[in-house]
Amino acid sequence: MSAAARVAGLTTSPIRAIAAGAPADAISLALGEPGWDFPSVARESLAAWSATVQQCAYGPNTGIPDLTTALVDYTGVDADQIMVTAGSQAGMFAVFQAHVEPGSQVLIPDPGFPAYETLATLAGATAIRYPLGTAHELDANSLINALNSASRPSLVVIGHPANPTGGAASAQMLNRVAQHCDQRGVPLLSDEVYRELWLDHLQPSVREVSKTALVLESVSKGWAAPGLRVGWVTGPATLLAPARLIHNAMNTAPARPSQIAAAALVSHSAEVLTESRDQVRARWEVLANSPLALHSARRAQAGFYHWLELPPGQ
Ligand SMILES: Cc1ncc(COP(=O)(O)O)c(C=O)c1O
Repeated sequence: MSAAARVAGLTTSPIRAIAAGAPADAISLALGEPGWDFPSVARESLAAWSATVQQCAYGPNTGIPDLTTALVDYTGVDADQIMVTAGSQAGMFAVFQAHVEPGSQVLIPDPGFPAYETLATLAGATAIRYPLGTAHELDANSLINALNSASRPSLVVIGHPANPTGGAASAQMLNRVAQHCDQRGVPLLSDEVYRELWLDHLQPSVREVSKTALVLESVSKGWAAPGLRVGWVTGPATLLAPARLIHNAMNTAPARPSQIAAAALVSHSAEVLTESRDQVRARWEVLANSPLALHSARRAQAGFYHWLELPPGQ
């Protein structure tokens, strides 16, 4: 028996293969995850919960109240505009499955996070790549040109600060892209999982310029907790409703202990994020002072990825 046709062409991530094959004493630069400690507020909340818990019950599909309350405070949107997910990856999967029709087109950045193309393919759509600007920033003209030439676009994806380039997006570019998507009636998904790991200043969120865009966030990067698998999507309740059904069908709800730890992290964002940014800046400083030939003309605006251009001809 063979797998369903939609799985054809899917492979495990080459980055995971590199990580799995590395010797035990290697310094891993493979997976995109924080290399600093799981914050103590999360450890303490997990310890307190496990010391008193009687039954480990399912959580509500909408997220446990402590987490949704913390997210309402953090994002500034109402609870019905927040979907709590099993990592932002599951949020992305749910949004793609809910809004991308087979035979349609999904616009994705180039270069960009490989999952965008995988999820478009899994939904039966074709990915159309739009180039980033010369400083790897979101270039509204290039995205709008690509969108105008798409015959059946079903979703536009932007990622900023970007994986893998660390490139950013100005409020003006975000505004133009959001307005154009609204005019075309195409949902806009903005992946902002690295935004809190800023180096010089916080980059704008599309939430500041649009009431219709969907925004993807997660405790995995800024809050140093990728293993919890907790993320969230904000956006209009009408766009989230079908995505919630997909997420429920696949996950029921994110794991309860993970949500408890995530609630502690998000409600202590000020301390946790300050520590994370100090950790990231320390790493960039080491790189800047390194004798190794690892420098490129452009440092990231946020996050922990260093994009190196190959010398011409390679
Ligand atoms: C750009 C980007 N978006 C989303 C994700 C998914 O993260 P998570 O599911 O841990 O929230 C990642 C993980 O590396 C990423 O780099």
